Amino acid sequence: MTHVRIHRFEKLWLGAAFVLIVAFIATIVYGSLGPGVAMVGDDGGTVNPDNPTAADNFRDPGVYQADDDSYDVYVEARQFAFSPGTSEPIRVPADTNVTFHVTSGDVTHGFELVGTNVNTMVIPGQVAQLTVNFDEARTHHIVCHEYCGPAHHAMEGSIEVVPQSEFTPPQQAAADQSEVTDT
Ligand code: CUA
Repeated sequence: MTHVRIHRFEKLWLGAAFVLIVAFIATIVYGSLGPGVAMVGDDGGTVNPDNPTAADNFRDPGVYQADDDSYDVYVEARQFAFSPGTSEPIRVPADTNVTFHVTSGDVTHGFELVGTNVNTMVIPGQVAQLTVNFDEARTHHIVCHEYCGPAHHAMEGSIEVVPQSEFTPPQQAAADQSEVTDT
């Protein structure tokens, strides 16, 4: 058996490559355990991307009360607005569990509350779900962080978190579920 000699520089590069692999794995482990970075889950289910708000698991965009201290917010993203969010702010009460259900009616968008870890991709055909407990009454800025067309940079909105005492639940029609239409 011949003795294989590895050149000094080759050893150095092997070592450097190994250190990089370990570092990359460490950043992924840190991201998932620390800040909670994850793929868009499938908890929200799927919808017909051509008509997402007609799906059984989606509702007319807006804020709905689920129980005493939880709310559901259905948001549809389209070039170049969040509905609700852009033309009128999303109003929710502080210190409650607010679950956002966000989907897209056209291309991939982003949904991020600036300065927080509330951040998801919005993929056509999929409903992204995030539950947030806002501990202070303040306004949050929503931005789209996935390039979605020429006015991507202008796609934004806001969320007004108000004290529970000042919050009036939105009116909800008994038949708030929109009709499912055949496509
Ligand atoms: Cu929507 Cu960028």
